[in-house]
Amino acid sequence: MIKLEVNGTVHQVDVPRDMPLLWVLRDELGLTGTKFGCGLGLCGACTVHVDGAETRSCSTDVGAVDGKAITTIEGLAGEKLHPVQQAWLDADVSQCGYCQPGQIMTAAALLARKPHPTDAEIDDAMSGNLCRCGTYARIRTAIHRAAGQGGR
Ligand code: FES
Ligand code: FES
Repeated sequence: MIKLEVNGTVHQVDVPRDMPLLWVLRDELGLTGTKFGCGLGLCGACTVHVDGAETRSCSTDVGAVDGKAITTIEGLAGEKLHPVQQAWLDADVSQCGYCQPGQIMTAAALLARKPHPTDAEIDDAMSGNLCRCGTYARIRTAIHRAAGQGGR
């Protein structure tokens, strides 16, 4: 059994330790907000937080996060939307939307460690999150907007 705290709820899952965390989230726990893109750690669609750090869940064995705290896009908001989520809405970032949960999770982790990032710091932090719709300019705008609201 592997113990995971996901979005504040403790789960015991009976799966192989080398199963990707993404599979466990989506198929065992029904949390389908986290997306499968490349499956190779290259696109960022599957990004979640593990103990607060952005992590590619497609290429993380669930056994490696046994006992750790995981946050997915479903658990990012508190009573209100997370400032990054609100900024995404205000800046109308999303196009097809597929990459956006991963973009938001990476942006939230960035602002948690660097509340007022520069353009260069944003580009560096977000460079591993690909968007086939090319929403990069709006993503940068939204991150600055979220930073202005306290960011986290
Ligand atoms: S699906 Fe995980 S990085 Fe692409
Ligand atoms: S909004 Fe379509 S892939 Fe990013």
